[in-house]
Amino acid sequence: MSYQAILPAAGQGKRMGAGKNKLLLEIGNVPVFIHTLRVFENDPECTGVFLAINPQDEEEMRVLLKKHQITKVAAMVEGGKERQHSVYNAAKAASGVEVVLVHDAARPFITRDLLQPLEKAAREKGAAVLAVPLKDTVKKADGNLITETLERSCLWAVQTPQAFRVSSLLEAHRKAEEDSFLGTDDASLVERLGKEVVIVEGSYDNIKLTTPEDIYFAEAIIKKRSNK
Ligand code: CTP
Ligand code: MG
Repeated sequence: MSYQAILPAAGQGKRMGAGKNKLLLEIGNVPVFIHTLRVFENDPECTGVFLAINPQDEEEMRVLLKKHQITKVAAMVEGGKERQHSVYNAAKAASGVEVVLVHDAARPFITRDLLQPLEKAAREKGAAVLAVPLKDTVKKADGNLITETLERSCLWAVQTPQAFRVSSLLEAHRKAEEDSFLGTDDASLVERLGKEVVIVEGSYDNIKLTTPEDIYFAEAIIKKRSNK
């Protein structure tokens, strides 16, 4: 079933320390955000992409979209101070579909096969996220003193895309704004309204490029895929 994609791309990439938006860095000779956009470009179910951007990147991004023949960007919307604000701005622009997928432009290794089950789960349940079982043991601490070891078998590392009925996503963002609540992902805004969010198992390759080491992992994933 068809959906629209909301791609927050308006960050500054401070932790990457590249001196510019990390999404403009190239891996395998292609800018990070173009890798991400290609997945949606090639998914026939995706009917439009809403890109939240920083106005200072607009010109460069427009040139790259043209160069790489990305045609599905329906609008470039000005991002906000935090990711949450960027998503909300772009979500308001989506229209005419029941379900939207919110996906970090900084996760270029998402694959098309994961989009359909996620979209389906959101259509049925209202909200769904991709996640992978946690590999590390997680402990809580007070300062440097451990207070609790969490039961790993029920812990998930949550990724994007996160899929929502548009009405649920907009309501959750509106309420969060009203309450001055800032979450680290979109699902948490829906969860705090007491609504169900379903987990769909994702892939360990679907990393978010955050710090410089992630570029090495990214190059390795590109190499693995090009050998297939
Ligand atoms: N993002 C956004 N608007 C913001 C902040 C982030 O659209 N105000 C986007 C980023 O461009 C990225 C995604 O949200 O695609 C995830 O954010 P993150 O990995 O934190 O990227 P940055 O905020 O750019 O990096 P940093 O936090 O290190 O500055
Ligand atoms: Mg950030």
